[in-house]
Amino acid sequence: MLKYLQNKLGNQRKRKRILYERLTEPLHLNLLSIFVALFGSFEQKIEFDLVIRQQYAFCLLQAAKFAKSMEIQSVTAIEFGVAAGAGLLNICEITKKITQETGVQFQIFGFDSGQGLPPPRDYRDIPETFKKGDYPIVDKEKLLQALPDNAKLIVGDIAETVPEFIKTISQDSPIGFIAVDVDYYWSAKECLKVLLGEAEKYLPITLIHLDDIGIPSSNPWVGELLAVNEFNAENSYRKIHPYTFLRNRRIFKHTRWIDHIFVMHTLDHKRRSIKYEQTKVQVLSNPYL
Ligand SMILES: C[S@@+](CC[C@H](N)C(=O)[O-])C[C@H]1O[C@@H](n2cnc3c(N)ncnc32)[C@H](O)[C@@H]1O
Repeated sequence: MLKYLQNKLGNQRKRKRILYERLTEPLHLNLLSIFVALFGSFEQKIEFDLVIRQQYAFCLLQAAKFAKSMEIQSVTAIEFGVAAGAGLLNICEITKKITQETGVQFQIFGFDSGQGLPPPRDYRDIPETFKKGDYPIVDKEKLLQALPDNAKLIVGDIAETVPEFIKTISQDSPIGFIAVDVDYYWSAKECLKVLLGEAEKYLPITLIHLDDIGIPSSNPWVGELLAVNEFNAENSYRKIHPYTFLRNRRIFKHTRWIDHIFVMHTLDHKRRSIKYEQTKVQVLSNPYL
């Protein structure tokens, strides 16, 4: 709780977000949050947006729930763009707690060049905001030491590391979440290739967090949104789309992260095939009879 408050109140940008996103929500929900923060389960804390890196926490919990409903014991989670490693360590911490509550295990991978951003190639990489060398891994050894046994850092150009990596993914631990935080269009395009392996290497609904779509210069013709649009145009059975009606499903609706959550629909997954047999027929009750 103390860590959460320090994280939130420690910098001006975050304080501003609390003002715009949290204090504009109904008072009774904010009061209820205090109770959940003190006595709630980890899942309830995620429901009430009380977890550091809430955007990842929502996706990871959802991936665990989808996996559990399919009796899958383990899920792979990936962060593309690690930099100093705060996000990757957040994933490790969050998944540890989700595993305790759901029983679903996680295999975690972080991908990064290690040297910060490569050179931008043209206007599609939003060079007015991002430049070569931004966000290097500050202390690789320290980061490696901090990673738990189920997490791995894969260093190198994503264009080169991803093709080999896909071969290692097994359907026993399908990819359930990817965080795309590589700033450029061309790097994002390379990240999304991780979604083009055999269908059972993914959950039928794989969660995606797109980090860099909230800056003013982002639009569908540059950056991550362009990479997503091209992915959809190029692939008939893999489609990336915003998480359907997510805002309606959340208690706190003003928070920005909701707009960053997308999913890949694995349309060629065997669970989505007409040949897949549902075990139980669904029956609707009628309260008027
Ligand atoms: C904004 S930082 C990531 C921040 C991190 N996700 C966090 O929340 O703490 C973007 C990172 O993407 C990495 N990156 C961008 N393009 C890359 C590429 N083609 N290959 C490998 N790493 C890349 C850069 O090295 C940089 O560290």
